[in-house]
Amino acid sequence: MPAKLYVCSGCCCGRVEKGNNEVPVDMLKSAWEEHSIGETVQLNITTCLGPCSMNNVSLLKTASKSIWLGKLNTPKHFQDLIDWAKAITEGEQFPVVPDNLAPNRFVPTSL
Ligand code: FES
Repeated sequence: MPAKLYVCSGCCCGRVEKGNNEVPVDMLKSAWEEHSIGETVQLNITTCLGPCSMNNVSLLKTASKSIWLGKLNTPKHFQDLIDWAKAITEGEQFPVVPDNLAPNRFVPTSL
């Protein structure tokens, strides 16, 4: 079963008009297609995942783990997500959060 990456583009995440940072949906979709990531890590652009105050939020789900990442506020964060997903398709240890995304990991308290 492939892992699933949920990238929130909901009522807060990516809502530039609310003063939040952009979620580069097209960049993510292009990277997933270009690198054939989808068979190993399914990309899902979603509506609100719940913890809006942590925008921008993503969630990586496997059969046994849920890894939440928040404050993904720069294009570099999303490039790091792409690189992580590519590493997973190449058999890198999984699901260890890479060092550059580790500070963005959080555990939601209100879900
Ligand atoms: S809009 Fe992204 S968590 Fe609510």
